[in-house]
Amino acid sequence: MNKTTAILLAAGKSERFGNNTPKPFLLLNGKAIYQYSLAVLLDYPQIDELILVLPKNLLSTEKEKLEKSSKTIHFIAGGKTRFESVRNALNVLDSSVKNVIIHDAARPFISPDLINNCLETLDQNKAVSCAIKSTDTLVFTENNLAKSYPERNKIRRLQTPQAFQTELLKEAYSLAQKEGKTNFTDDSSLVHYFNLAPVSFVPGSEENIKITFPKDLLLAEFQIKNFKNVK
Ligand code: CTP
Ligand code: MG
Repeated sequence: MNKTTAILLAAGKSERFGNNTPKPFLLLNGKAIYQYSLAVLLDYPQIDELILVLPKNLLSTEKEKLEKSSKTIHFIAGGKTRFESVRNALNVLDSSVKNVIIHDAARPFISPDLINNCLETLDQNKAVSCAIKSTDTLVFTENNLAKSYPERNKIRRLQTPQAFQTELLKEAYSLAQKEGKTNFTDDSSLVHYFNLAPVSFVPGSEENIKITFPKDLLLAEFQIKNFKNVK
């Protein structure tokens, strides 16, 4: 069987948010933030199983809450960095898992369309990420001086979900581990760094915000209440 497994990352420390409770477990309209993306991933027909990556101290309580899920959920402890958390998840995948789709639980507005965009494109590609255009002008700097201005229409801002052929992503992680180069903030950059496959981009969405700072939670509340296409 060629399985598709979703990895949902919720094991970060939320340092920029600055709260005792890590952000995936904060309430958004009465529901924990991570439960929004969990529900969408559980509902998506072509996803066979999930790996939920959690802070070690929350493993048993969350496991109890989700006992009666519609699909198999593997509960695993995250690591100190995002890299370690994904690596821990990849380590439990068996050879029947052909594709993985990875999502940050800090983005509660994942939708079936975004998952669809990724998985359809993965049929012909090995590495796919959701991306949106930048409305800001961006610049490379050195010592706070402009080095070069990339053309704005060539710039993309990356989001999750991102999808990969499992074998390729596992290879990328094992190379990174060997080199001790693990400071990646997403998985597509790792695949690109080791030159393993071209990374393709599919449309993300402006609503698919990442909760990073407290003001993002206010924006998320606003989106839930006012945008018909998000729930
Ligand atoms: N993440 C994780 N394990 C880590 C670090 C991050 O599972 N060791 C997850 C986060 O829970 C989040 C996603 O990766 O859902 C994206 O990371 P980010 O937004 O940077 O979250 P944090 O690392 O928790 O926040 P900060 O960088 O501000 O500490
Ligand atoms: Mg982080």
